[in-house]
Amino acid sequence: MAKTLPICIVILSAVSRSCYGTLLAPEEYGWRPIFVDSEVVIGGPFGDNFVWQFETQENRILAFSIVDGNIKEAQEFLSIHDGGDIYSPNVQFENDDIIQLSRKGLPETLYTTTSKATVRFSTTPISHLKLRIKKAANCSYNIKPETQCGRIVDEVSCYCALFTNLNQVDQTMSCLDNGMKLVSFESEEEEELVHRTWSTQIPFWTSLTDTRRDGSWIWESTMTLLSNGNYTHWFPGRPLSQDSDQLNCMLYGGSTFLSYWGDVNCSALANGICEAQP
Ligand SMILES: *[C@@H]1O[C@H](CO)[C@@H](O)[C@H](O)[C@H]1NC(C)=O
Ligand SMILES: *[C@@H]1O[C@H](CO)[C@@H](O)[C@H](O)[C@H]1NC(C)=O
Ligand SMILES: *[C@@H]1O[C@H](CO)[C@@H](O)[C@H](O)[C@H]1NC(C)=O
Repeated sequence: MAKTLPICIVILSAVSRSCYGTLLAPEEYGWRPIFVDSEVVIGGPFGDNFVWQFETQENRILAFSIVDGNIKEAQEFLSIHDGGDIYSPNVQFENDDIIQLSRKGLPETLYTTTSKATVRFSTTPISHLKLRIKKAANCSYNIKPETQCGRIVDEVSCYCALFTNLNQVDQTMSCLDNGMKLVSFESEEEEELVHRTWSTQIPFWTSLTDTRRDGSWIWESTMTLLSNGNYTHWFPGRPLSQDSDQLNCMLYGGSTFLSYWGDVNCSALANGICEAQP
């Protein structure tokens, strides 16, 4: 069955591609979905029954928002489907638990559960409308009662607290099992947002260790060496420089270190925070 796809304009950040005329069913003519590497914005003109397909990296999902607009209102003109065709179910807002925990003021966003999406315009929007599509990390890991996830920093990354006491290596593995990594604080803002969400009543593991070489602290999740001038937030007097060969992992928060970083024995048991970037 041939689908008609009249004039469309794709704005891929700097590059722009236009297609004119009538496109037939992609499977017949080798028409490929638009690959979302990081972000794509599509603007009009949109006609009746325009169909767009998007896809991203296999283990990532797609996030839809409207530039300077409201996605609920936009749904009057378009339907966004969670999958490779217009018969796939409609995309949804994330579950209430994730939304509750997420940073306030993030753009209203609909997420797929797979790496593909199909957008269909049912009628031409009255005003100029721009649809923003971003690659995002899956944030639906809070399926276990001892896990809590949210869009803590922005609408495309995901952070989860694992309320199970494990040593640092096992906590690293729990994150990896969920396609995530043990948290790395690359900036004060990131630490502050995590702190605000989960407080620091209970300490949790981060990916910072000096197990490879005493005194050389590395964010294992990103394999970056902490050098002079990088953001740090050590508890006064820490890390201990003497007899410190057993205190190789950074524990954040809790009653001992408050909102600071402490160096402790990696075999100690604590909760963990995982993160996933798009
Ligand atoms: C996202 O997570 C959900 C729940 O674990 C899973 O069913 C789905 O397949 C995941 N999607 C991708 C693209 O990994
Ligand atoms: C850490 O410091 C190094 C050397 O000064 C610099 O190249 C790097 O960009 C810094 N990393 C961060 C995350 O600030
Ligand atoms: C670290 O913990 C392990 C396991 O509990 C223990 O064997 C070791 O002695 C500890 N090291 C120090 C310095 O406390």
